[in-house]
Amino acid sequence: IEISNICRRNCLYCGIRAGNTKPERYRLSIPELLDTAKLAKNLGYGTVVIQAGEDLGVRAEVIAEAVARIKFELGLAVTLSLGERSDEVYRLWFQAGADRYLLRFETSNRNLFEAIHPPAPGEPAGNRLELLKRLRCIGYEIGSGVMAGIPGQTWDDLARDITMFVEQDLDMIGCGPFLPHPQTPLGRIFETDRTTGLYKPGPLTNEQRRFFEEHGIPVPDPMDQVYVDEYLPFKVIALARLVCPMANIPSTTAIATIDPKQGRLLGLSRGANVVMPNLTPTKYRKMYEIYPNKAASFESPEETHATAVRQITELGRTVGQGPGRSPKFSQRTV
Ligand code: 5AD
Repeated sequence: IEISNICRRNCLYCGIRAGNTKPERYRLSIPELLDTAKLAKNLGYGTVVIQAGEDLGVRAEVIAEAVARIKFELGLAVTLSLGERSDEVYRLWFQAGADRYLLRFETSNRNLFEAIHPPAPGEPAGNRLELLKRLRCIGYEIGSGVMAGIPGQTWDDLARDITMFVEQDLDMIGCGPFLPHPQTPLGRIFETDRTTGLYKPGPLTNEQRRFFEEHGIPVPDPMDQVYVDEYLPFKVIALARLVCPMANIPSTTAIATIDPKQGRLLGLSRGANVVMPNLTPTKYRKMYEIYPNKAASFESPEETHATAVRQITELGRTVGQGPGRSPKFSQRTV
């Protein structure tokens, strides 16, 4: 459930960055959020994810109350994905009943991360790897992940990302391909393949080189730059599964976006064990465009749900029941 597309940050890749004046901005009211959670309950879900841009108007106390109601009145496990907040706020939400927190570290290359994810004005650069450790200490089941194929990302970086999944002892790992969004600085500067919409790197043009230098993005050797093709996200999922056998790994929306017919199924066949169907009310979906042509942008929650069930059934699997706790978390001893 995407509850707000308002964001105070200006990430160079993301369509809902503060500097993008195109999308109409929205924030769900609490009754709308609770109704959506009720719908999830009625459709048979045991858990919901509440996600938003970094919107400080999504007030900590208000979220705490909504979390408590979804958890204790509806009996659903609650995952939050609301960006970088203070330890106090994370603790408040955990005490209110939140079970899990999702915060992608996006890339383990610190210079690249800081370049594409500038700090909010007047604040120091956030360290998401540190935040994840703190969330873990508070007691959350923790989820993270990366984008594969960010301009400036090398194969070595991506290999380190995958070892970082183990180091961080992640309970959940969500990854997808970088998809250039034309209303973002990174999306404007990199040509995309017309048919697939994927970013195909080649030697940098002078303009791209200047862009890298201006934004402090490390310039990789063209041979080292991660190349996004239809296989890349599956390679990342498969490797994540091999190194983290007990983690929950979703077949993500970005994967369904690059291959609307098969993407989600292929993800589930190649290491993923979870899907995250979008239940955001239809009228808000198009406004949560973090990348172009996001899957299911024009569907109703019921349609999206039915598709997910059909796809899982087609694979010969059964839809899991219950809160969806990661097997990894259940085995945790420290
Ligand atoms: N392409 C692919 N993934 C993106 N995200 C944000 N913008 C893009 C993009 N242009 C991912 C980030 C973020 C998650 C919510 O969506 O990894 O953490």
